[in-house]
Amino acid sequence: MPVRAHAPGRVNLIGDHTDYAGGLALPMAIDLGTTVEGHPTGERVVLHSDQQPDPADVAIDVDDPAAVEPAWARYVAGVVAEVRPRLGFVGTVTSTVPVGSGLSSSAALELAVALAIGFVGAPEELAALGQRAEQRASGVPCGIMDQLTSAAGRPGCALLIDFASLDVEPIVLPDDVDIVVVHSGQPRALAGSAYAERRAQVEQAAAALGGRLRDVPTDDLAALADPVVRRRARHVLTENDRVRRCAAALADRALAAAGEEMVASHASLRDDFEVSTPVLDALVERLVATPGVYGARLTGAGFGGCVVALTRPGALAEGWHVRASAGASVTDDTGDDRRR
Ligand code: GLA
Repeated sequence: MPVRAHAPGRVNLIGDHTDYAGGLALPMAIDLGTTVEGHPTGERVVLHSDQQPDPADVAIDVDDPAAVEPAWARYVAGVVAEVRPRLGFVGTVTSTVPVGSGLSSSAALELAVALAIGFVGAPEELAALGQRAEQRASGVPCGIMDQLTSAAGRPGCALLIDFASLDVEPIVLPDDVDIVVVHSGQPRALAGSAYAERRAQVEQAAAALGGRLRDVPTDDLAALADPVVRRRARHVLTENDRVRRCAAALADRALAAAGEEMVASHASLRDDFEVSTPVLDALVERLVATPGVYGARLTGAGFGGCVVALTRPGALAEGWHVRASAGASVTDDTGDDRRR
């Protein structure tokens, strides 16, 4: 196949629901990913997936990605609407990222499709395009963490991302540690509407405090009259601090300290941000009680999906043992500039 594009999924070690607040997070691209292979041709993007019964078949001038069927093709359509390729594309999608688990299978699909159909640009431009495609396809006002992590991944490193500047600082992970992702078995129900509500509450808090939450001293939170909004804001403020401390601990190989920040992050997501579930809480408790586990927490948006654990090598037999991997890339042997 003349074109082969690959984009990784991601797991977030710490820092959830901070990206759309201009805060901090510490995710990493993983060695589970999505590959799109094929060749440019015609006026439609036609992709057969190894995980879906029906193909995506999208006109290059598609104008309403959210109306496309089957549902998975909306992500393809969102990307086509953003890239506006001069030529269509015929090929296949293969993926090792489990769908609906919180490992960003949709971001991996978006970035692999964008590169395959001819997008050329810097990682942060690719990420912003993927984020717009995701929002168009799903209607969920997601932040940019998933796409930026998939675009900017570094082997062996977590990424300390500052969402105010989009600066990405690689943090070398110690080699005597396992990062294990365990699925709770609970599908992420209602994640879209609850996510939008949380984001609106965070924005309400920021507006009431006259700026970005990150710049607000914790004492000022008392000025927020609504106790729910105050707790949402407290999560964002304290989570930013936990991200800083966890990144510093990992860089120092202080694994117990890094694990403590992860456990505190889970508690804040459970109590202040209210995006955990009893199933996720029970899984985190069980993992944290297992010998050799430094810390564990829900990862991603919450409401079901996966937990991430930091452990001594071999401490957990279950789950996906993931490695920090390189970002999205493409090999294109068509010799053709397919940009508009
Ligand atoms: C989802 C969104 C991200 C981010 C996380 C929560 O994965 O796509 O932008 O907000 O939830 O941290």
